Amino acid sequence: MALDPAFLEELRARTPIAAVIGRRTRLVRSGRNWKACCPFHGEKTPSFYVYDDHYHCFGCGAHGDVITFVMQSEGRGFPEAVAELAAAAGMEVPRASPQQRENEQRARDLAEVLNLVQAAWVRRLHAPEGRSGLAYLRGRGLSDETIAGFGLGWSGDGRGALLEELRPKGVTSDLLVRAGLMRVDEDGRPKGELFFNRVTFPILDRRGALVSFGGRILGDGQPKYLNGPETELFSKRRVLFGMDRARSALRMARPRGAPPVELLVVEGYMDVIALHQAGFPGAVAPLGTALTAEQMEGLWRLAPAPILCFDGDAAGQRAAVKAAETALPLLSMERTVRFCTLPEGEDPDSLLRTRGAGAVASLVEGARPLSAVLFELLTQGVRDPGPEQRAALRRRLTDAAAMIADKSLASEYRSTLVDRFFETYRRRPGGGARRDGAARPSVVSVVSAPFDALAATEERMRILTAILLRHPGLLSEVEDAYCRLDLPPVLGRVRAGLMDAASEGVPMDADALAAWMDEAGLADERAAVLSARPLPMALTAPDDLMAVDVAQEWWHFYALMNVRQFGEDLRVDTERMCAGTLDERAWGSLRPRLLAWEALRRGELSADDG
Ligand code: UTP
Ligand code: MN
Repeated sequence: MALDPAFLEELRARTPIAAVIGRRTRLVRSGRNWKACCPFHGEKTPSFYVYDDHYHCFGCGAHGDVITFVMQSEGRGFPEAVAELAAAAGMEVPRASPQQRENEQRARDLAEVLNLVQAAWVRRLHAPEGRSGLAYLRGRGLSDETIAGFGLGWSGDGRGALLEELRPKGVTSDLLVRAGLMRVDEDGRPKGELFFNRVTFPILDRRGALVSFGGRILGDGQPKYLNGPETELFSKRRVLFGMDRARSALRMARPRGAPPVELLVVEGYMDVIALHQAGFPGAVAPLGTALTAEQMEGLWRLAPAPILCFDGDAAGQRAAVKAAETALPLLSMERTVRFCTLPEGEDPDSLLRTRGAGAVASLVEGARPLSAVLFELLTQGVRDPGPEQRAALRRRLTDAAAMIADKSLASEYRSTLVDRFFETYRRRPGGGARRDGAARPSVVSVVSAPFDALAATEERMRILTAILLRHPGLLSEVEDAYCRLDLPPVLGRVRAGLMDAASEGVPMDADALAAWMDEAGLADERAAVLSARPLPMALTAPDDLMAVDVAQEWWHFYALMNVRQFGEDLRVDTERMCAGTLDERAWGSLRPRLLAWEALRRGELSADDG
């Protein structure tokens, strides 16, 4: 029986862990914490540490909270350990309500469905139909052992075979919907398999239980990755891909003198898998969203200073700022983050292939503490600040320090950042200030780089995405065209979210969608898409702007990305319409596309033909 998490939290809070452990082994003070000779393995010098809410042995890797301690030291099961501690704390263990028991049964059913699907997909990968998938994975450098170890599979072609295959085992389309494996139409009826023609990545929670899947298309289609939607078992905000393995790797006893396993946060599925294969078993990744506070809490349960890896480009720097902002309020003396920056244009997977494990190992060794990185992130691109900028900059630094909830730590950060400010921006005699050190590319300079075609295209993709966030009802009409776009990562994640929302049957209005996205951990991405300027009409005009105008505007920006292609597609579709062979969706969008085309021809066609 799963106990109410609130009860367990209360039990842990009311049970002084040091007192419980102190009955087994002699504790001595070590700063704010305690240390002792480990009660789980024979040792003469203490390497067993007791913190506020957990213990960790650096010798044998024993680790846990007060409940696990009782389980491990007294050989008890979880319920007995809880009962014993509750009695000591004068608390009553709550009994499961019928509702709770029903939820648990439902969760067990879903888990079983997921496991059946997982087995089917692994089988398919090795059947003739999975040949191209298997070749793809091997082509990306994965060994058969890695492929099997991560349980990678092949989804099949999505034409209903999955349901057929599993029906005799009691799997229904409703169950597949609840497990996040089938889409639903607007009335909530099952509409088709979510994953098809994709290699599949089982997503496990920290304990190794299967909770969802990701899928990658072979080659260059869009969207490149699909993640399962939120379900009773799966919450994107909480789960990190690879966490189960990282957790066991970090807890496993290591031979004396062996280098520590570092907890590494990277961006993608393939990065995690390639890193594990190359001997970095502490690699994990969020699932297409920015790192959330819940995920950070999970990381800190394993290691006091996980390393966050970001790309060297502007987007990577922005992601690093965001991660720092999420971490700051949660920092304490035992909980921080470190950063490492990848060479421009590389992700860990590509880096391993081009430069080998040694390159990654030295990156990891060079990881820098948050306090050092924070200053650089916040002063990016500031070279010669005048008085107003100096004041603004100092404010930015002190505001960042003030985000830290732990008062004494906040004050240390504040003085470190301000000292650094005075060192870096020493006033020159005769006014003005200068920044020491070589100039290097910065977020600000990259963002305000001279207008170029790539930036213009990205801007248009952002606008297309923003219009859809505001008018999600448009999605069904433009879905095909939108999914063909090769979006940059942040937009790609928003699109994946939009598609997830649509497939989950979230009502397609702006507010419901916004709430859903925030819940799915996409709040920052959504805000980034909507806050940038300039805003097209469809976003500034009142909501009752006629639907066709919104659609027309969407197609206008779409056309601008490749005017010639747009004209050509339109010509082909018009001919099909005359021949009576145009499909329904293209038919629905024909009018706004024609209107957009006409407007372009009337005026702006020459502006900047993509
Ligand atoms: P990237 O686009 O950086 O891909 O997405 P990658 O990990 O380098 O993938 P490969 O090497 O081309 O296979 C990083 C992560 O963002 C999420 C996925 O979790 C992916 O691993 N993502 C990306 C999506 O959810 N949807 C997408 O369409 C793209
Ligand atoms: Mn990659």
